[in-house]
Amino acid sequence: MAKKIVLAYSGGLDTSVAIKWLMERGFEVICYMGDVGQGADTETSRARALEIGAKECMVEDLKKSFIEGYAFRALKAGALYQGKYNLATALSRPIIAEGMVNFAKKINAGALAHGCTGKGNDQVRFESTFAIMAPGLEVMAPVREWELKTREDEIDYAQKHAIPIEQTKEKLYSIDRNAWGVSVEGGSLEDPQSEPSPDSFVIVSPVEDAPQKSESVTVTFKKGVPVCLNGKKTSSVKLVETLNEVGGKHGIGRVDMIEDRLVGIKSREVYEAPASSILYAAHTALEELVLDRDTRKLKESLAARYAELVYNGLWFTPLKEALDAFVDKTQEPVSGEVKVKLHKGKVTVCSRKSKASRYKMKLATYGKADEFDQSLAKGFIDLWVLPFKK
Ligand code: ARG
Repeated sequence: MAKKIVLAYSGGLDTSVAIKWLMERGFEVICYMGDVGQGADTETSRARALEIGAKECMVEDLKKSFIEGYAFRALKAGALYQGKYNLATALSRPIIAEGMVNFAKKINAGALAHGCTGKGNDQVRFESTFAIMAPGLEVMAPVREWELKTREDEIDYAQKHAIPIEQTKEKLYSIDRNAWGVSVEGGSLEDPQSEPSPDSFVIVSPVEDAPQKSESVTVTFKKGVPVCLNGKKTSSVKLVETLNEVGGKHGIGRVDMIEDRLVGIKSREVYEAPASSILYAAHTALEELVLDRDTRKLKESLAARYAELVYNGLWFTPLKEALDAFVDKTQEPVSGEVKVKLHKGKVTVCSRKSKASRYKMKLATYGKADEFDQSLAKGFIDLWVLPFKK
């Protein structure tokens, strides 16, 4: 009997060809599509998978779990890789891989497959999760193994095997999209000197086209998690979708960077993350108001470490869990409201308030209400520099 293999399927050329390629190697292919907000037509993709010869194609809606259990965790941690990338792609891999493992166990599959190349981070993220959660399952990586060198080779293979594919015209970029952001790479972006052309914009308007007039948004947080938009309770997925829309309209959230991949290469990456740019700015502003100095500082230093773990595919690890416990403890007072203004690609925080605020007007003010005892400062400074006095 043919061995059942669960393939992470996107509906694109690579994974469509992979179905056939795995079948040729004697596998019974069962596709798995984890919907993390790709915005793609999953029904059409599902039909295509079956037409190519997949025995089944499971579509699982993971949007809510992805936003609440992955994206908002990174937000609370303040995680940005190299201080810039919100990890949208990186965060989606462990949840999809986990979904695949659970599905594989349910249907008694003996193997797992993904469509990642051998040059990227995603292969590491998938396979680390597979190895941690299901060490006994065989893993196949067709795109890494097959002899199809170029996109043209793949199209030839598809035509030879009557695999239905979308328009064969030159694909401009490699785009990975989900509810938390869009990753764009390849094509003309591979030259670090070339300015991204307008056709590389997916959900963000070029700043030149953004409205002249600014727009304000108020976000309410409860223990570090955004719960209301403009005072109205909003579900996690809806909240992120809405902020992607308004933020995108105002040109918010484009990042253009040279990134250090885990496999050692530098790559040019363009990201779009309007909602997350707004939420990070608002969340940081609220933390400034409510966290004590030492907690805020230590948390800030751990954010980079957290981002590295996520980037490097180590989501399901003890250190990541321990950091989450720390982060959650710090978020206890992070409840309140932040108002931001969106204008021409910029998010500007304009006000913040919280019941847990540590800001004391009577200490900060230069006005009449001042209660700060300035006479204490002299002795404080004497002792502060004592160790360094000659
Ligand atoms: N470089 C980013 C990362 O490693 C994005 C990868 C995007 N993947 C893609 N197939 N376009 O997280």
